[in-house]
Amino acid sequence: MRVLVTGGAGFIGSHTVDLLLAKGYGVRVLDGLVPPVHAAKIPPEYVPRQVDFVCGDVRDRATWQRALSGIEAVFHLAAYQDYLPDFSTFIHTNSVSTALLYEVVIAERLPVHKVVVASSQAVYGEGKYRCRAKCGADPNGALSGAIRFPPMREERQLIQCEWELKCPECGAFMTPEASDEAGVNPHNSYAISKYAQEMIALSLGRRYGVPTVCLRYSIVQGARQSFRNAYSGILRIFTQRLLHGNAPVCFEDGQQLRDYVSVHDVARANALVLEDDRADFGTFNVGGSHRKTVLEYARLVAKRAGIEIEPEIPGLYRVGDVRHIVSDITKLCALGWTPVVSLEDIVDEYISWARSERDLHDYSPQAETHMRAVGTIRRTASRLGAD
Ligand SMILES: NC(=O)c1ccc[n+]([C@@H]2O[C@H](COP(=O)([O-])OP(=O)(O)OC[C@H]3O[C@@H](n4cnc5c(N)ncnc54)[C@H](O)[C@@H]3O)[C@@H](O)[C@H]2O)c1
Repeated sequence: MRVLVTGGAGFIGSHTVDLLLAKGYGVRVLDGLVPPVHAAKIPPEYVPRQVDFVCGDVRDRATWQRALSGIEAVFHLAAYQDYLPDFSTFIHTNSVSTALLYEVVIAERLPVHKVVVASSQAVYGEGKYRCRAKCGADPNGALSGAIRFPPMREERQLIQCEWELKCPECGAFMTPEASDEAGVNPHNSYAISKYAQEMIALSLGRRYGVPTVCLRYSIVQGARQSFRNAYSGILRIFTQRLLHGNAPVCFEDGQQLRDYVSVHDVARANALVLEDDRADFGTFNVGGSHRKTVLEYARLVAKRAGIEIEPEIPGLYRVGDVRHIVSDITKLCALGWTPVVSLEDIVDEYISWARSERDLHDYSPQAETHMRAVGTIRRTASRLGAD
């Protein structure tokens, strides 16, 4: 079977390509080698020679026509990510490209019998919480409070360092719960573009009989996550800072909870839903069993790198960020998948890969300056004037 992997020169795409080749699939990659992820319009060394490489833009119909010729399954991983305010680029790259993919498959009656789209945990927005005041709970004394899906935090809260979410009904603090696939609440441009991508893919897939699967990845980590893109990616940013003698910088108060999954576990999840028809027309979380606060994570990276530098908490926050988010992976585990790589192994793999790269610079100050200039990174009231 011939499989097309868009974004196959990127981080998750390239590991997916490796696994597909190892399993005997023929693989074509469609990738625009887009900066800042790529420094040049030449495929990275890790893209295997036997891959048929199409350099092109997923926003372009003719490119899809060329790339889809002779293809039976597609992983659509190419995407625009991060927190910059060029809102329309998210929609064009992530959502419109997905509509184009189905448009070409359907118009040309191509024999594509599986499409897997890479979505994100970001579609949950602030995610799922339980009210600590037990509001809405069973009046007969049930132990737990009501489940809430809070709206995005407001600027006035963030500037005053009111990080934690309160119950929209009674105002009490809430406890984060793992988000399952049922409720979504996207509220930044990336999340909206990813949820739109899911809806386009699932509805067109169903209507025209193209089995489709949406995978919502948590924070994915491992070798080849380009350090040139320092706009997001906790492990790459902390690693490049530490390896250059700089402290990792935690936004808010560093107590944000996240879950982390190895790229190798993600590649296995991709292969599973390609091969298992039970996944068709489904949406699945692909997350880790590892949960840590950002501050704990920064300390773990420093420890594994053997560098004694304490993380900094300089009173900054990122517009569009969520407070706590962790995914419930029960649904995909029911199909036989489970994340197996330990957090220590994930971090060690990335540090050792970064150390082996000839041109590892600390790109984070440049990214931070840009994000501050466009208003994505802001100071809290207590630290205004600190620059
Ligand atoms: N890395 C994560 O933690 C994470 C988490 C959730 C979801 N995802 C999703 O997984 C997918 C892969 O992410 P990644 O981390 O491997 O990203 P990446 O940036 O490493 O790779 C993306 C690839 O897409 C290519 N690309 C970007 N725009 C393109 C365009 N217009 N035309 C053609 N190619 C283009 C880039 O050149 C790059 O090689 C994305 O869809 C992303 O939204 C990633």
